[in-house]
Amino acid sequence: MFRSDTIIQPLSVKEDSSVLVTLDIGDTYSGFAYTYTKEYLEDEWTIHMNDPWVREKHMTHKTCTTLLLEPHGEMKGAKYGYEAETDFAGKFLDGCHAEYLLFRNVKQEFYKDGVNFDAMITDVNSGQEKPLCDILLALLTFFREKALERVRKRFDAITENDIFWVLSVPSAWKQETSLLYRDLAIESGIPFRRLRLVTEPEACLAYVMQFIRIKVSPDGRAKISNKISHFDARVMLLDLSGDAATLSVHRVSGDKTFKMVFQTRSHKKGSSQVNDQFLLFLSNLIGEDIIRTLKKDYIDDYMAMCDEFEMRKREIKPGTSGTELFSFKLPYQIEETFKEQYKTEYVTITQRIKEKSVYRDRVRYDGSRLHVEISVLKDLFNIVLDKIEVYIRNVLQMAPCARIASFMLVGGFSESKLVQAGIKKRFPEMEVIIPETPELAVMKGSVMLAMNHEIRPPTPVSGSYQKEKEQTIISSVCTVL
Ligand SMILES: Nc1ncnc2c1ncn2[C@@H]1O[C@H](COP(=O)(O)OP(=O)(O)OP(=O)(O)O)[C@@H](O)[C@H]1O
Ligand SMILES: [Mg+2]
Repeated sequence: MFRSDTIIQPLSVKEDSSVLVTLDIGDTYSGFAYTYTKEYLEDEWTIHMNDPWVREKHMTHKTCTTLLLEPHGEMKGAKYGYEAETDFAGKFLDGCHAEYLLFRNVKQEFYKDGVNFDAMITDVNSGQEKPLCDILLALLTFFREKALERVRKRFDAITENDIFWVLSVPSAWKQETSLLYRDLAIESGIPFRRLRLVTEPEACLAYVMQFIRIKVSPDGRAKISNKISHFDARVMLLDLSGDAATLSVHRVSGDKTFKMVFQTRSHKKGSSQVNDQFLLFLSNLIGEDIIRTLKKDYIDDYMAMCDEFEMRKREIKPGTSGTELFSFKLPYQIEETFKEQYKTEYVTITQRIKEKSVYRDRVRYDGSRLHVEISVLKDLFNIVLDKIEVYIRNVLQMAPCARIASFMLVGGFSESKLVQAGIKKRFPEMEVIIPETPELAVMKGSVMLAMNHEIRPPTPVSGSYQKEKEQTIISSVCTVL
């Protein structure tokens, strides 16, 4: 396998490539974006996505980062994304799921100290182990092939030699981890000479800056903000994703150059925690043991219920009246399990809610559907937002965060209007900049970074990363050309 210690080098995409493709393998969701360089040079907002990924009646720009392997870990016949989740649910229903290997949150493993080529990962269904790198390689190969397929569908004359690839890496990863990832990308079939790595926060910042330049200030004169147009302004980028909140501070000079000076990441502060809060809410309503039994004995129903909430939570908006109702169908097995387990205590779920739950006045159950006051769901979001607020306030006390007057919101969780309003309300003194489709900031920003910015080799030349006060500091400087 090819190894080298250079991660970021000056790019020359415009001269030697016709199509630029970026892969964003996220911890919870993944996808790709691409642009035809000639088209992009005419309109810098022209970045294409894959066809939407479909899950039941929902469509999304990214699919979940899930991999399902055949019994005994056979790679042949592997399923990916939503297809993997649906296929697994079907296998469970047929009672033949036990030997299959299901992998989720693979990328999280790479944040661990000392992760290397020999690291193993245990699947969440059968408890079998597989080499971690094999799983990431399979995911990279899948998304690379999907991207190729999509690009060829649009430009049939394109060959692999016309494609330039950009891979985004978390800024918190150690250099060795980023190199390992880069090597896996090469093994998946991406030629070394046509591959560049960018860090996720820098890609996001490029996206937000481009958004400001093109969408907010197309004539290039009016600035979205005086706060980031003066020399040496500092902005904080808030990447709120599935599990984590990644905060990074960037020094922006006018809107010409930016340099990341600080980054930090904290787990259990993302959109998945709203799902966890929802499960706690259901436990309070119906009984913790009922939810536990559903998960243990009827995992397909349990997963379908979680998936339904995962999509439906996106409907909740700040303007909706708190007393308006959110109706949610409960799996049939909940009713059955309830009757079985509580037959001596309660006659119906409704009776238990009335007698036992703190939500008794805000929830109604009609025998199959829960009707929940929106204010309850807003409370669930607020629990997570409160944690994010405390985290941000602590980070703002740190030296590199002095003089920050602007936040930029990106990441999937930032798509939520409740989250957007929640951050604005909690930090009224801050200017909060929210670009279009914050969920796509990494993917689209990687294209923009590669196309519009010269990414200079960082100083010191020997590495892109420096350790300082236990925080990783990226020293690359990006300049708008
Ligand atoms: N409208 C929405 N409301 C609430 N949450 C949303 C919305 N849209 C997407 N999400 C959440 O965004 C999360 C995914 O975010 P994102 O794509 O930024 O994560 P990721 O890239 O996988 O994570 P990481 O960057 O940490 O590896 C999912 O958990 C999803 O529930
Ligand atoms: Mg991401």
